[in-house]
Amino acid sequence: MRVERLRVGVLASGRGSNLQALLDACARADFPARIVVVLSDRERAQALDRARAAGVEAVWVNPKDYADREAFDRALVQEFEARRVELACHAGFMRILSPVYMRAFVGRALNIHPSLLPAFPGLHAPRQAVEPGAKVSGATVHVADEGVDTGPIVLQAAVPVLPDDTEETLAARILVEEHRLFPEAVRLFAEGRLTITGRRVTIK
Ligand code: GRF
Repeated sequence: MRVERLRVGVLASGRGSNLQALLDACARADFPARIVVVLSDRERAQALDRARAAGVEAVWVNPKDYADREAFDRALVQEFEARRVELACHAGFMRILSPVYMRAFVGRALNIHPSLLPAFPGLHAPRQAVEPGAKVSGATVHVADEGVDTGPIVLQAAVPVLPDDTEETLAARILVEEHRLFPEAVRLFAEGRLTITGRRVTIK
């Protein structure tokens, strides 16, 4: 039985509401993971403030300090490795991560996305659902791989798309599910209950 709690590192670029859901979960005595660092590419990301308010180390990694994407990604890996991060959580990180980063975290990086993947990958997923009149959308936690919002699916939750929904109202409905799913996926990972076989994740 594992005694130490799983060491989680988070990447976030913005508001950080998913980070907050993870911080809140980690604050519970029976939660098997803890966040050891939050990294952001944006100096003023609210996510960094949320981390500091919870007593978690918050680091701005300025992309302008690096010659190219690979050098920036190498810095992210170094920041995580320096803190012995075991699981990376991508909580609204708005940059595409190169193989330099992804190869360091194969099978141990989780991403949250506001659609039922593989539908509506990429930017503005709620808008992509509203525009053609989709009747259902939702949230997905998946294992991150070298693609954009690809990778084996861990957990999903569906929400209805209502006739008068806008991008904003649908995004808000989906976000409620994101905040529930992401901590649950981290718990399953920390408890060793996720098995990745090829393109599929099975949950014990
Ligand atoms: C979420 O909808 C997440 O799924 C997407 O970006 C948004 C980030 O929101 N990748 P927040 O910063 O967690 O509030």
